[in-house]
Amino acid sequence: MTQHAPDKAAKKLFIKTYGCQMNVYDSQRMAEAMGADGYVLTEDQADADMVLLNTCHIREKAAEKLYSDLGRLKPLKAERPDLKIGVAGCVAQAEGEEIIRRMPLVDLVVGPQTYHRLPAMVRGEAPRILTDFPEEDKFDHLPGPRATRRAPAAFLTVQEGCDKFCAFCVVPYTRGAEVSRPVDRILNEARDLLARGVREITLLGQNVNGWHGRGADGREWGFGRLIRALAEIEGLDRIRYTTSHPNDMADDLISAHRDIPALMPYLHLPVQSGSDRILKAMNRKHTADQYLRLIDRIRDARPDILLTSDFIVGFPGETDEDHAETLQLVERVGFGTAFSFKYSPRPGTPAYDRPEVEAGVADARLQELQALLTRQQKATQQAMVGRSLTVLFEKSGREAGQMVGKSDYLHSVFVQAPRAQVGDLLRVRIVESAANSLRGELLD
Ligand code: SAH
Ligand code: SF4
Ligand code: F3S
Repeated sequence: MTQHAPDKAAKKLFIKTYGCQMNVYDSQRMAEAMGADGYVLTEDQADADMVLLNTCHIREKAAEKLYSDLGRLKPLKAERPDLKIGVAGCVAQAEGEEIIRRMPLVDLVVGPQTYHRLPAMVRGEAPRILTDFPEEDKFDHLPGPRATRRAPAAFLTVQEGCDKFCAFCVVPYTRGAEVSRPVDRILNEARDLLARGVREITLLGQNVNGWHGRGADGREWGFGRLIRALAEIEGLDRIRYTTSHPNDMADDLISAHRDIPALMPYLHLPVQSGSDRILKAMNRKHTADQYLRLIDRIRDARPDILLTSDFIVGFPGETDEDHAETLQLVERVGFGTAFSFKYSPRPGTPAYDRPEVEAGVADARLQELQALLTRQQKATQQAMVGRSLTVLFEKSGREAGQMVGKSDYLHSVFVQAPRAQVGDLLRVRIVESAANSLRGELLD
């Protein structure tokens, strides 16, 4: 978040964001909505007039983090009873008033589809718990373009919600049904971001590649067509998107990776497991082989594309053999990096009551998978050494004259560039691979 409190009279808002990029985007929009009501952001919780926790419900640990953070706020609230505490996001949606019952210090609970009403809630002009899925679109009620500069890389939500109902996942319940934002709104928001200094936009959706809508030509557009329209906007140098479902990788989206230079060679395409039996039990609606053939087609279109995925180990019923098939799939694909999680049973999901894999067994499988993924990440980074890439500088580094930015492949790159500015997009030769980043030298 970009602005801080120069004005002593303004009220101060502290936001903590958990979970996925969609929550990061939502926090930004809530900050803008509250900004219209005179709130400025602060990075100091102790100094805030309002603390807003934008939460994640995806795994038990993520949800429990809210309650430990609320526990830590007790002394501050006791000291300053007028401090407002709000809970937003997916735990707010899933647990609603239960949050206030468990933690009476909470003043407001607002779900992901109702946060346009947050300012009214804070003013006491709306209920203090709002978690419905309203007919109205929150985006129509949020403040429009503002003149403030933005960091060079921004998120833009184009699609929300999920109709896939994977057996382990809370998202269809916390975010609701799949909804695509209209084309003109998306293009306008993109133009507004570019006018404020943005050069790279990451399109967001829980199933972003399932986006569809009616274009200016009156035709039904798919996600690939939307990317083509965005790529035509002057000044948009880089486009990314996340997260995609394998079953929504349409031909037009795959060919966009071949045709559109601004579309970065990076794709997060979660597969979750390499076992057909487990994929079926997860309700993923594709086989391991279908995923592998899809990867082949994507690599035909864009041979250098860096692929990443999510995996769940220890899903109910997973055997050693199923796990071995996951490892085989990872070997076959070769991922640039990947997230892997131990299965966490979530109340209200179809898999919740199924018999669990023994914790020790799941832990061992997770370690084995992570070791393999780490080897692949290292190899992918090592293969960047000696290559010339573009880097979009996002901030200065710890060392004097150092800048940090992202490469085309989304690696963090550290470069000595004393004359460069945040927002510069420069050519860099990669000279070294470190644990989770690369080091490069300026070419221009
Ligand atoms: N929409 C995205 C994922 C959203 S959740 C998709 O379809 O891929 C991000 C990741 O969290 C998932 O890909 C999955 O790997 C993991 N995840 C979701 N529910 C989980 C659970 N109950 N236990 C462990 N990991 C889970
Ligand atoms: Fe969750 Fe599956 Fe939807 Fe992804 S596709 S958000 S994992 S239900
Ligand atoms: Fe978490 Fe909700 Fe995102 S559950 S991962 S914050 S959609």
